[in-house]
Amino acid sequence: MQDFSQASGVLSINLNNLEENYKIFQDKISASCAVAGVVKANAYGLGFQPVVEKLTELGCPQFFVATLEEALQLREFNKKTPVAVLGGLYHGSENDYAAQNITPVLNSINDLNRWQNLCLNKDKALSAILHVDTAMNRLGLSMDEADNLTSNLDQLNGVNVQIIMTHFACADEKDHPLTQIQADRFAAIAAQFETVFPNVQKSLANSSGLFRSNDYHHDMVRPGYALYGGNPTPETDNPMQRVVDLAVRVLQIRDCKKGETIGYGAGHKFTQDTKTATIALGYADGFLRTHSGNGQLYWQGQACPVLGRVSMDAVTIDLSRIDGAQPVQGDMIEILGPNQSVDDIAHAAGTIGYEILTSLGTRYKREYV
Ligand SMILES: Cc1ncc(COP(=O)(O)O)c(C=O)c1O
Repeated sequence: MQDFSQASGVLSINLNNLEENYKIFQDKISASCAVAGVVKANAYGLGFQPVVEKLTELGCPQFFVATLEEALQLREFNKKTPVAVLGGLYHGSENDYAAQNITPVLNSINDLNRWQNLCLNKDKALSAILHVDTAMNRLGLSMDEADNLTSNLDQLNGVNVQIIMTHFACADEKDHPLTQIQADRFAAIAAQFETVFPNVQKSLANSSGLFRSNDYHHDMVRPGYALYGGNPTPETDNPMQRVVDLAVRVLQIRDCKKGETIGYGAGHKFTQDTKTATIALGYADGFLRTHSGNGQLYWQGQACPVLGRVSMDAVTIDLSRIDGAQPVQGDMIEILGPNQSVDDIAHAAGTIGYEILTSLGTRYKREYV
């Protein structure tokens, strides 16, 4: 049993629900499709090693990270599972990928040329993932470059193109027209590659894409956000299980008088006498400054609005709407839990749940259930 008596906050990661979420994906796809795990940015803030280990236990066949450093970190405790670096093939680090069996996601012809040189020098067809940009204009070969490759096969000679992929820009928005346009572009270019590389796997869908159409599943889906409990289809109830709970401690209870103000910038003025709680949660803990005066936290299922500005280590909430027993110093206030999802709190701060998760602070005590 962990001792939380001195913790200012407790962040609970429910690995059983993470498992449930992984199974929800598996139930949605066909037997020939694989579910990769996107575990970049410390597994979206939830903790890299515990999440990777859980997914490995579940048979996850492929991990995606953003940077070479993240892939090297994974290799410290997992030597086997394929891991791919979405950020591409870093200049001058080509040998580090090969030495640690790390797959580059080739985002340009230059990436491809350098990987091919390495393969030819080593006389070994090393795995690579080819990323084709179908609308994001962020990373990846253009459609024309990809098209040219299929008629200039010398450029691919010696390289084991294991997967061809692209990434949706708008799949979280129901019926966004760009989603189908991207899916069509991807299907066309992937079909061209398949004529030359019959075994190449195709990967298109992120969390939202996975739920939008079975046609987007292809050979491998790449969910991140929904795995961690975020809602992949924001226009409907969340089909995923909650993975993250967060509760923080009350530092002080105060009786504020009508006409007084609270916090930096005197951001809120009381129009009546109000009981407040100052709690151990600030922007240094990932509670964004845009929560100032926005949204609410929960005491035993009852909403307590945020008052005034969020400061570095503290924020104040209004206890005046609480019916029944009030919290006292040392009690825990719910930030994320049964009453408030990651998506809810993100909405209140005018952001997305991805930012909430990846901003989760380091001062909380973490427990893995
Ligand atoms: C290329 C790529 N694939 C998959 C994902 C996972 O996306 P999501 O977290 O929306 O499921 C990401 C995340 O940004 C990504 O960049």
